Parts: sequence; C-alpha cells; structure tokens
Amino acid sequence: MKIGILGAGNVGGNLGRAWAGRGHQVVFGVRDTGSDKARRAVAAAGAAAGADAGATAGADVRAVSLSEAAAWGDVVVVAVPWAAVQETLAAAGDLRGKIVIDTTNAIRWDNGPVKAVEGSGAEMVAGWLPGSRVVKAFNTIGAEQMLQPDFNGVPADMFICGDDAAARATVAALAQGIGFEARDAGPLRNAALLESLGTLWIHMATVGGLGRNVAFKLLQK
Ligand SMILES: NC(=O)c1ccc[n+]([C@@H]2O[C@H](COP(=O)([O-])OP(=O)(O)OC[C@H]3O[C@@H](n4cnc5c(N)ncnc54)[C@H](OP(=O)(O)O)[C@@H]3O)[C@@H](O)[C@H]2O)c1
Repeated sequence: MKIGILGAGNVGGNLGRAWAGRGHQVVFGVRDTGSDKARRAVAAAGAAAGADAGATAGADVRAVSLSEAAAWGDVVVVAVPWAAVQETLAAAGDLRGKIVIDTTNAIRWDNGPVKAVEGSGAEMVAGWLPGSRVVKAFNTIGAEQMLQPDFNGVPADMFICGDDAAARATVAALAQGIGFEARDAGPLRNAALLESLGTLWIHMATVGGLGRNVAFKLLQK
C-alpha cells in the first residue's frame, strides 16, 4: 500500500518504519525535507524496508513536501501536533477519496493532560476535508510502542473509528500488520472516546506513574 505520512517525528517516524518493514511503500511529507528529523525517519524506514525480504520499496522511502506526500498516498497519515493540523492539511491540498488517518491528541497540560477540544479533533479534521474518509487511530498508545506492540505475548489493542467501514477495515489491516489487535470502534462520532482514551493513556504514563510501557487491552470471556 502507498502510505503518505504527514510528519516525521515520534509517531510518523515509527509508523513509517514499521510499515516499511512490512513491505508497504512509505513517503514522509514534511515542511523541511532536509531537517534532521526527516533524515532520521527516512533512514530508519529505509533500513527497515531493506531488512524485509519481501520489500522492493526500501530505496524509495523519501521525504517530500506535504502536498507531494498527500497526493502520492492512497492512505495519508496525520502525525503532526494538533496545533499544526489545520495548517498542515491546508498545505497538503486535495485529499478527497483518500483514507486519512488522524493520530493526534489535542491536549493541554494542567498538572496532567487535559483534552483541549470539544467533541473530537477527528471530527474537526473531517469537517476540513470534505470527501475524505477520515479514520481515528494510533492515538491511544505511546509512539515507541508502534514498533513493538507486543506485551509479553499479548498484542496491544488499537481502537479504530470512522464512518466508512471499508476505510476502517483497511486501517485495521495496517494495525494488525504491525502487531496490534485491531478493534473496530464504530463511527467517527466515537473519536471523542478514543481521544479521551488517548488522554487517559498520557495521564497513566506520566502523572499516573506507570511509565510509557503500558497499553490498553479489552478482555473477553
Ligand atoms: N508521541 C506520542 O507518544 C504520541 C502517541 C500517539 C499520538 N500522538 C500524536 O501524534 C502527533 C505527533 O506527535 P509526535 O510525538 O510524533 O510529534 P513530534 O515528534 O514532535 O513530530 C511532529 C512532526 O510534525 C511536524 N510539524 C510540526 N509543526 C508542523 C507544522 N506547523 N507544519 C508541518 N509539520 C509540522 C514536525 O516537523 P518539524 O521537524 O519540521 O518540526 C514533525 O515532523 C501529535 O498530534 C500527538 O498528539 C503522539
């Protein structure tokens, strides 16, 4: 799959590396293709692609402009700070018809994380992108876990919501492919729940004292 990732930081870099290592074609969309962050993300994803015996796209991992990455990807991942999302999407250009994965958590800090938008950021993103298939995912766990979501043999859950069932299924396959247990969380209106869960993860990992090696898991019996 062709995946354009807007942002090459903790989340963008690690998702790109994980997917490149599973044979996906990855391109990073950044505002400065020469930045250290962009170079590091390209090098790590390129190395992961090269290490994957089935990969043919390793040499193709590159950093390009936001609009080039957005036009190139069948799936476009938003992995920039919430404050930069609207500006980034404006620079990305026409995303109609594409699956757009919103990984962001809009939070402010007041002795701990506080959700900083009414409703959800993902629904705001969908409002800015008419015709795109917006899916909320990858916001409920720390970025480093995206490289290894295995917790002593138990896969971390990845909650996924969006209004387009086929888009949710595509994102679920992308999450499963890198080791998560994908959980279909229904329509995009549930993004507020996922963003609250993301805020809770940050609380538990920081002021909650558990550290970042934690993940959410639904138990069934
Ligand atoms: N970190 C986590 O554990 C985690 C987990 C789940 C979800 N999230 C969410 O994922 C998103 C990204 O977090 P992160 O930790 O990956 O951030 P990060 O490491 O700081 O990386 C942010 C990326 O966004 C780019 N960026 C910043 N401002 C921009 C702008 N105005 N226009 C275009 N690009 C811009 C940065 O580019 P430059 O290098 O040019 O600044 C960088 O590539 C956030 O919304 C966060 O809430 C984070």
